[in-house]
Amino acid sequence: MNAKLILGITAALSLTTALPVQAGTDLDAKTAAIIKRDFRDKGIAKVERLNQDELQAACSKYKDDVPVDMKVKLEDEQLKQIKWPADGILVGDWKAGEKLAQSGKGLTWSDKEGDPAGGNCYNCHQLSSTEIAYGTIGPSLLHYAKKKGGLEKAQRRAYGRIYNAKAYNACANMPRFGHIGILTEAQIKDLVALLVDPESPVNK
Ligand code: HEC
Repeated sequence: MNAKLILGITAALSLTTALPVQAGTDLDAKTAAIIKRDFRDKGIAKVERLNQDELQAACSKYKDDVPVDMKVKLEDEQLKQIKWPADGILVGDWKAGEKLAQSGKGLTWSDKEGDPAGGNCYNCHQLSSTEIAYGTIGPSLLHYAKKKGGLEKAQRRAYGRIYNAKAYNACANMPRFGHIGILTEAQIKDLVALLVDPESPVNK
């Protein structure tokens, strides 16, 4: 249902782009009303997921090209909310991270509240030189540690971005895994390990 929903929203939004601005605003409201009317709560998948927060609303309004001062403010607000691990340790087990990166499980109506979700990272990123099935919405993360300034720098960079990519680029097209509570702190540490461990498929 999620994929269909996104396709539906994308189709609806691209329809508005072809029209003058005033009609667009009016259509945005109508589109939102139609989507809300036609979807219903099922299990843990609630219609309230369609409600945008301030950042999402700004990205929709400006078609991802938010004015600079607003962008800086939005990112700053997101950045302040990142919960860094209290123990100061940012890396976990890369093998567990690899399983999470491959798993697209979670958040559907048939899942139960509190069921662990996967990260679905391969859907958008290359994370191994041998895996041929990966998406390209996000940049390739191959050799991440080396590319991002070595272990220390790369692990902090990775943790922050997995927790909330929109804290660094307001309209980034990546789910806010920590911010929204899709993944736990321990899961994010495992994914950071996947990105920085010299033995993981990312860095091999
Ligand atoms: C829906 C697609 C999508 C998914 C799923 C996704 N990402 Fe991303 N990711 C992106 C995009 C797009 C960017 C570039 C963000 C930007 O514009 O700043 C990105 C950026 C990143 C970065 C920052 C790269 C850098 O420059 O340091 C990291 C790290 C990352 N993703 C890791 C992950 C991990 C780990 C997962 C799985 C938990 C994941 N991503 C899932 C789309 C995605």
